[in-house]
Amino acid sequence: MATCSAPGKVFLFGEHAVVFGKPGIAMGIKPRVFVTVRRGKNPPRVNSPYIENCFDLTGVNGSAYIHSQLPSSSGLGSSAAVTVATLSAINEEYNLGMDRSHIASTAFKIEKKVQRGRASPTDTFVSTYGGLVLVKDNKRRILPPENLNLVIGNTMVSHKTAELVAMVGEFRRNNPYVVDPILDAIEAVTIRSLHNFHNQKTLGRYMDVNHALLEALGVGHPMLTRLVTAARTSGAYGAKMTGAGGGGCMIALCPKRSKNRIAKAIEAAEGRAIITSIDTDGVRTE
Ligand code: PMV
Repeated sequence: MATCSAPGKVFLFGEHAVVFGKPGIAMGIKPRVFVTVRRGKNPPRVNSPYIENCFDLTGVNGSAYIHSQLPSSSGLGSSAAVTVATLSAINEEYNLGMDRSHIASTAFKIEKKVQRGRASPTDTFVSTYGGLVLVKDNKRRILPPENLNLVIGNTMVSHKTAELVAMVGEFRRNNPYVVDPILDAIEAVTIRSLHNFHNQKTLGRYMDVNHALLEALGVGHPMLTRLVTAARTSGAYGAKMTGAGGGGCMIALCPKRSKNRIAKAIEAAEGRAIITSIDTDGVRTE
Protein backbone atom coordinates (compact mmCIF):
# COMPACT_ATOMS: atom_id res chain seq x y z
CA MET A 1 0.00 0.00 0.00
CA ALA A 2 1.28 3.53 -0.79
CA THR A 3 -0.17 6.98 -0.11
CA CYS A 4 0.90 10.11 -1.98
CA SER A 5 -0.53 13.60 -2.04
CA ALA A 6 -0.39 16.50 -4.49
CA PRO A 7 -1.37 20.17 -4.15
CA GLY A 8 -3.89 22.32 -5.99
CA LYS A 9 -3.05 25.53 -7.85
CA VAL A 10 -4.20 29.06 -8.51
CA PHE A 11 -3.33 31.45 -11.31
CA LEU A 12 -1.94 34.67 -9.78
CA PHE A 13 -1.68 36.48 -13.11
CA GLY A 14 -2.10 35.97 -16.83
CA GLU A 15 -4.84 33.33 -17.23
CA HIS A 16 -6.51 33.40 -20.67
CA ALA A 17 -3.62 35.51 -22.02
CA VAL A 18 -1.36 32.41 -21.70
CA VAL A 19 -3.57 30.69 -24.27
CA PHE A 20 -2.29 33.31 -26.77
CA GLY A 21 1.38 32.87 -25.86
CA LYS A 22 1.55 35.57 -23.17
CA PRO A 23 3.24 34.89 -19.80
CA GLY A 24 1.31 33.72 -16.74
CA ILE A 25 2.12 33.04 -13.08
CA ALA A 26 0.62 30.09 -11.20
CA MET A 27 1.23 28.87 -7.66
CA GLY A 28 0.84 25.61 -5.74
CA ILE A 29 -1.53 26.01 -2.78
CA LYS A 30 -1.74 24.17 0.54
CA PRO A 31 -4.97 22.13 0.10
CA ARG A 32 -4.07 18.68 -1.28
CA VAL A 33 -5.50 15.51 -2.66
CA PHE A 34 -4.38 12.29 -0.91
CA VAL A 35 -4.49 9.00 -2.82
CA THR A 36 -3.86 5.54 -1.39
CA VAL A 37 -3.12 2.76 -3.87
CA ARG A 38 -3.44 -0.93 -2.98
CA ARG A 39 -2.32 -3.91 -5.03
CA GLY A 40 -4.80 -6.49 -6.25
CA LYS A 41 -6.32 -8.14 -9.27
CA ASN A 42 -9.63 -6.74 -10.53
CA PRO A 43 -10.13 -4.70 -7.35
CA PRO A 44 -13.04 -2.31 -6.81
CA ARG A 45 -11.96 1.15 -7.94
CA VAL A 46 -13.08 4.69 -7.32
CA ASN A 47 -15.20 5.68 -10.27
CA SER A 48 -12.87 8.26 -11.82
CA PRO A 49 -11.67 8.35 -15.43
CA TYR A 50 -8.42 9.94 -14.19
CA ILE A 51 -7.68 7.00 -11.91
CA GLU A 52 -8.74 4.43 -14.53
CA ASN A 53 -6.26 5.98 -16.95
CA CYS A 54 -3.45 6.02 -14.37
CA PHE A 55 -3.77 2.24 -13.95
CA ASP A 56 -4.25 1.61 -17.68
CA LEU A 57 -1.25 3.70 -18.71
CA THR A 58 1.12 2.16 -16.16
CA GLY A 59 -0.25 -1.35 -16.87
CA VAL A 60 -0.69 -2.35 -13.22
CA ASN A 61 -3.69 -3.65 -11.30
CA GLY A 62 -4.83 -2.06 -8.08
CA SER A 63 -7.38 0.07 -6.31
CA ALA A 64 -7.27 3.70 -5.23
CA TYR A 65 -8.86 5.60 -2.37
CA ILE A 66 -9.10 9.43 -2.58
CA HIS A 67 -9.30 11.97 0.21
CA SER A 68 -9.48 15.54 -1.13
CA GLN A 69 -9.14 18.92 0.55
CA LEU A 70 -9.82 20.61 -2.81
CA PRO A 71 -13.29 21.39 -4.16
CA SER A 72 -13.69 19.84 -7.62
CA SER A 73 -14.55 21.73 -10.84
CA SER A 74 -13.68 25.06 -9.29
CA GLY A 75 -10.46 25.88 -11.17
CA LEU A 76 -8.14 24.84 -8.32
CA GLY A 77 -6.65 21.96 -10.28
CA SER A 78 -8.23 19.09 -8.36
CA SER A 79 -8.26 16.68 -11.32
CA ALA A 80 -4.55 17.32 -11.94
CA ALA A 81 -3.82 16.74 -8.23
CA VAL A 82 -5.78 13.44 -8.27
CA THR A 83 -3.89 12.28 -11.36
CA VAL A 84 -0.44 13.33 -10.10
CA ALA A 85 -1.00 11.79 -6.63
CA THR A 86 -2.36 8.53 -8.12
CA LEU A 87 0.55 8.15 -10.54
CA SER A 88 2.99 8.86 -7.76
CA ALA A 89 1.35 6.30 -5.43
CA ILE A 90 1.39 3.68 -8.22
CA ASN A 91 5.05 4.58 -8.83
CA GLU A 92 5.85 3.98 -5.13
CA GLU A 93 3.83 0.80 -4.73
CA TYR A 94 5.12 -0.90 -7.89
CA ASN A 95 8.63 0.64 -7.94
CA LEU A 96 8.22 1.93 -11.48
CA GLY A 97 11.14 4.39 -11.21
CA MET A 98 9.26 7.39 -12.63
CA ASP A 99 10.86 10.75 -11.79
CA ARG A 100 8.89 13.98 -11.30
CA SER A 101 9.16 15.09 -14.90
CA HIS A 102 7.84 11.70 -16.04
CA ILE A 103 4.95 11.98 -13.56
CA ALA A 104 4.12 15.53 -14.75
CA SER A 105 4.15 14.61 -18.44
CA THR A 106 2.16 11.38 -17.94
CA ALA A 107 -0.41 13.21 -15.80
CA PHE A 108 -0.79 15.83 -18.53
CA LYS A 109 -1.29 13.07 -21.14
CA ILE A 110 -4.09 11.62 -18.98
CA GLU A 111 -5.74 15.01 -18.37
CA LYS A 112 -5.64 15.70 -22.11
CA LYS A 113 -7.25 12.36 -22.90
CA VAL A 114 -10.00 12.66 -20.28
CA GLN A 115 -10.70 16.32 -21.06
CA ARG A 116 -10.64 15.60 -24.81
CA GLY A 117 -7.67 17.74 -25.77
CA ARG A 118 -8.31 20.86 -23.66
CA ALA A 119 -6.17 20.26 -20.58
CA SER A 120 -3.62 22.75 -19.30
CA PRO A 121 -0.08 21.43 -18.69
CA THR A 122 0.23 24.15 -16.03
CA ASP A 123 -2.12 22.32 -13.63
CA THR A 124 -0.17 19.04 -13.72
CA PHE A 125 3.20 20.85 -13.60
CA VAL A 126 2.28 22.95 -10.55
CA SER A 127 0.72 19.95 -8.78
CA THR A 128 3.92 17.93 -9.37
CA TYR A 129 6.51 20.55 -8.39
CA GLY A 130 4.56 23.04 -6.24
CA GLY A 131 5.96 26.55 -5.80
CA LEU A 132 5.64 29.66 -7.90
CA VAL A 133 5.62 28.86 -11.60
CA LEU A 134 6.19 31.15 -14.57
CA VAL A 135 4.51 30.05 -17.80
CA LYS A 136 6.24 31.57 -20.81
CA ASP A 137 6.42 30.56 -24.48
CA ASN A 138 4.49 27.43 -23.54
CA LYS A 139 7.25 26.40 -21.10
CA ARG A 140 7.07 26.32 -17.32
CA ARG A 141 9.82 27.44 -14.94
CA ILE A 142 9.96 27.42 -11.14
CA LEU A 143 10.57 30.85 -9.57
CA PRO A 144 11.90 31.52 -6.05
CA PRO A 145 8.99 31.00 -3.62
CA GLU A 146 7.16 33.99 -2.13
CA ASN A 147 5.28 34.06 1.13
CA LEU A 148 1.88 35.40 0.02
CA ASN A 149 -1.17 35.25 2.28
CA LEU A 150 -4.11 34.37 0.10
CA VAL A 151 -7.78 33.86 0.75
CA ILE A 152 -9.55 31.90 -1.97
CA GLY A 153 -13.25 32.54 -2.46
CA ASN A 154 -15.24 29.83 -4.19
CA THR A 155 -18.38 31.22 -5.88
CA MET A 156 -19.81 27.67 -6.04
CA VAL A 157 -20.92 28.63 -9.58
CA SER A 158 -19.75 25.90 -11.94
CA HIS A 159 -17.96 26.91 -15.10
CA LYS A 160 -16.54 25.16 -18.14
CA THR A 161 -12.97 26.17 -18.91
CA ALA A 162 -13.19 24.89 -22.51
CA GLU A 163 -16.26 27.04 -23.22
CA LEU A 164 -14.73 30.18 -21.70
CA VAL A 165 -11.47 29.70 -23.62
CA ALA A 166 -13.46 29.19 -26.86
CA MET A 167 -15.53 32.30 -26.14
CA VAL A 168 -12.44 34.50 -25.67
CA GLY A 169 -10.96 33.00 -28.86
CA GLU A 170 -14.06 33.92 -30.85
CA PHE A 171 -14.20 37.41 -29.34
CA ARG A 172 -10.60 37.92 -30.42
CA ARG A 173 -11.14 36.56 -33.95
CA ASN A 174 -14.03 38.98 -34.46
CA ASN A 175 -12.46 41.96 -32.68
CA PRO A 176 -8.66 41.73 -32.85
CA TYR A 177 -8.21 45.51 -32.49
CA VAL A 178 -10.20 45.47 -29.26
CA VAL A 179 -8.96 42.23 -27.73
CA ASP A 180 -5.23 42.35 -28.57
CA PRO A 181 -4.58 45.49 -26.49
CA ILE A 182 -6.36 43.82 -23.54
CA LEU A 183 -4.07 40.77 -23.87
CA ASP A 184 -1.05 43.10 -24.15
CA ALA A 185 -2.14 44.89 -20.96
CA ILE A 186 -2.50 41.54 -19.11
CA GLU A 187 1.03 40.69 -20.27
CA ALA A 188 2.33 44.04 -18.96
CA VAL A 189 0.67 43.50 -15.57
CA THR A 190 2.10 39.96 -15.33
CA ILE A 191 5.62 41.14 -16.17
CA ARG A 192 5.43 44.10 -13.75
CA SER A 193 4.17 41.79 -11.00
CA LEU A 194 7.32 39.66 -11.39
CA HIS A 195 9.32 42.72 -10.30
CA ASN A 196 7.00 43.52 -7.40
CA PHE A 197 6.59 40.34 -5.39
CA HIS A 198 8.11 42.10 -2.38
CA ASN A 199 5.73 45.01 -2.61
CA GLN A 200 2.39 43.49 -1.77
CA LYS A 201 0.44 46.73 -2.06
CA THR A 202 1.57 47.09 -5.67
CA LEU A 203 1.00 43.41 -6.32
CA GLY A 204 -2.56 43.76 -5.00
CA ARG A 205 -3.15 46.75 -7.24
CA TYR A 206 -1.98 44.67 -10.22
CA MET A 207 -4.42 41.91 -9.21
CA ASP A 208 -7.23 44.47 -9.32
CA VAL A 209 -6.11 45.57 -12.80
CA ASN A 210 -5.83 41.96 -14.00
CA HIS A 211 -9.36 41.30 -12.74
CA ALA A 212 -10.74 44.29 -14.66
CA LEU A 213 -8.95 43.15 -17.83
CA LEU A 214 -10.41 39.65 -17.48
CA GLU A 215 -13.85 41.22 -17.08
CA ALA A 216 -13.16 43.17 -20.28
CA LEU A 217 -12.50 39.82 -22.00
CA GLY A 218 -16.00 38.79 -20.94
CA VAL A 219 -15.18 36.10 -18.37
CA GLY A 220 -16.56 37.86 -15.30
CA HIS A 221 -19.54 36.74 -13.21
CA PRO A 222 -21.74 38.65 -10.71
CA MET A 223 -20.68 36.29 -7.90
CA LEU A 224 -17.00 36.91 -8.69
CA THR A 225 -17.64 40.67 -8.58
CA ARG A 226 -19.39 40.24 -5.26
CA LEU A 227 -16.60 38.22 -3.62
CA VAL A 228 -13.84 40.42 -5.07
CA THR A 229 -15.63 43.53 -3.73
CA ALA A 230 -16.15 41.90 -0.31
CA ALA A 231 -12.42 41.08 -0.10
CA ARG A 232 -11.30 44.55 -1.17
CA THR A 233 -13.62 46.40 1.19
CA SER A 234 -12.51 44.25 4.13
CA GLY A 235 -8.83 45.08 3.71
CA ALA A 236 -7.29 42.95 0.94
CA TYR A 237 -4.32 44.45 -0.93
CA GLY A 238 -6.11 43.33 -4.09
CA ALA A 239 -8.39 40.63 -5.49
CA LYS A 240 -9.12 38.96 -8.78
CA MET A 241 -10.80 35.95 -10.31
CA THR A 242 -8.44 33.00 -10.76
CA GLY A 243 -8.52 30.54 -13.66
CA ALA A 244 -11.09 30.50 -16.40
CA GLY A 245 -13.70 32.77 -14.73
CA GLY A 246 -17.44 32.68 -15.45
CA GLY A 247 -17.81 31.35 -11.87
CA GLY A 248 -15.20 29.21 -10.13
CA CYS A 249 -12.88 30.97 -7.69
CA MET A 250 -11.34 34.33 -6.85
CA ILE A 251 -8.23 35.08 -4.82
CA ALA A 252 -7.48 37.94 -2.44
CA LEU A 253 -3.96 38.99 -1.45
CA CYS A 254 -4.17 39.81 2.25
CA PRO A 255 -2.15 41.41 5.02
CA LYS A 256 -1.40 38.56 7.46
CA ARG A 257 -3.47 40.10 10.24
CA SER A 258 -6.58 40.53 8.05
CA LYS A 259 -6.96 37.10 6.46
CA ASN A 260 -9.61 35.88 8.94
CA ARG A 261 -11.63 39.08 8.50
CA ILE A 262 -11.41 38.79 4.69
CA ALA A 263 -12.42 35.11 4.81
CA LYS A 264 -15.45 36.06 6.94
CA ALA A 265 -16.42 38.82 4.48
CA ILE A 266 -16.25 36.31 1.60
CA GLU A 267 -18.46 33.87 3.53
CA ALA A 268 -20.91 36.68 4.36
CA ALA A 269 -21.12 37.35 0.61
CA GLU A 270 -22.12 33.68 0.16
CA GLY A 271 -18.77 32.36 -1.04
CA ARG A 272 -16.75 29.52 0.51
CA ALA A 273 -13.45 30.80 1.81
CA ILE A 274 -10.12 28.94 2.04
CA ILE A 275 -7.22 30.65 3.83
CA THR A 276 -4.00 29.48 2.22
CA SER A 277 -0.41 30.18 1.18
CA ILE A 278 2.21 28.72 -1.12
CA ASP A 279 2.93 24.98 -1.24
CA THR A 280 6.56 24.31 -2.12
CA ASP A 281 6.53 20.50 -1.75
CA GLY A 282 4.56 19.48 -4.83
CA VAL A 283 3.76 15.78 -4.96
CA ARG A 284 5.02 13.84 -1.96
CA THR A 285 4.87 10.44 -0.30
CA GLU A 286 2.88 10.38 2.94
O1 PMV B 1 -9.92 27.40 -14.57
P1 PMV B 1 -8.62 26.74 -14.75
O2 PMV B 1 -7.80 26.71 -13.54
O3 PMV B 1 -8.70 25.46 -15.47
O4 PMV B 1 -7.72 27.77 -15.60
C1 PMV B 1 -7.74 27.90 -16.96
C2 PMV B 1 -6.68 28.87 -17.31
C3 PMV B 1 -6.80 29.35 -18.74
O5 PMV B 1 -5.73 30.26 -18.96
C4 PMV B 1 -8.10 30.07 -18.98
C5 PMV B 1 -6.67 28.20 -19.72
C6 PMV B 1 -5.31 27.55 -19.80
O6 PMV B 1 -5.25 26.45 -20.37
O7 PMV B 1 -4.30 28.11 -19.37
